Order: sequence, then C-alpha cells, then structure tokens
Amino acid sequence: MRIKYLSALALALLIAPAAQASEELAKKYNCLACHQVDKKVIGPAYQDVAAKYKGQADAPAKLTAKVKSGGVGVWGQIPMPPNPAVPDADLTTLVAWILALPPAAPK
Ligand code: HEC
Repeated sequence: MRIKYLSALALALLIAPAAQASEELAKKYNCLACHQVDKKVIGPAYQDVAAKYKGQADAPAKLTAKVKSGGVGVWGQIPMPPNPAVPDADLTTLVAWILALPPAAPK
C-alpha cells in the first residue's frame, strides 16, 4: 500500500514538468474555459476522459480529430465547438497529456 503510494508519488514528480507545460497549452488555447482536470464543467473532466479511453490504442487519433473538428454526444448533449486554430503538434501534446492523467483519487 505504502510502496504503491510512494511509487505513484515518484511518477507524479517525474512527469510534473511535462504536465505543467501541457496545462499551459490547455490554458493558452482556452480548453480550460470548458474543461478542468478533475471536475466536470461544461465539458468532461480530463481525468474522466483518460479513464474512459484507457488502453484504447486508437484513442489519441480519435480524440485529436474530435478536438479539432468538435463534436457532441459522447458525454452529453452539449457540443464542443471546433478548435481549428490549435496546431497539430500542440493538439497531439494536449491529447497525450489528457490521456496520461492519473485517475481521480478515490472519494
Ligand atoms: C466551449 C467549450 C469547450 C472548449 C473551449 C473545449 N471543449 Fe473539449 N469538450 C467540450 C464538451 C461539451 C465536450 C463533450 C462532447 C461530447 O459529449 O461529445 C468536450 C469533450 C472533449 C474531449 C473528449 C472527447 C470525446 O469524444 O470523448 C476532449 C479530449 C476534449 N474535449 C479536449 C479539449 C481540448 C484539448 C480543448 C482545447 C483545444 C477543448 N476540449 C476545448 C467543451 C469544450
């Protein structure tokens, strides 16, 4: 139990700098106007997105396309507008960051 916690912590520290850069991107492109990492706002919590697509090899490609062109119906009836202004490289980084988020802490 304790060891598991410690290795999770070590991992979190290791990926922290990259995570920070990606959160900056999410801010820059206004993703955070509708999304938060750990809370549903207008769009789903990014942690929930990570959990939903865990282990799905086609998730990065699918989600990159979805963020770019927008869409509706996966999480509810509120649509995500298209985000055509985000360069592909940044989009790939953002989606990889979202999918790598650790699951929500048990409540
Ligand atoms: C105007 C609000 C809004 C903005 C801005 C927004 N989103 Fe979304 N996003 C949503 C909504 C609403 C959904 C749920 C869509 C659905 O149910 O299919 C969503 C869904 C998603 C999903 C999951 C898609 C799926 O099919 O499971 C990802 C990943 C995502 N957004 C990433 C982003 C990123 C990255 C950005 C910034 C470039 C962004 N969003 C900007 C509202 C927004």
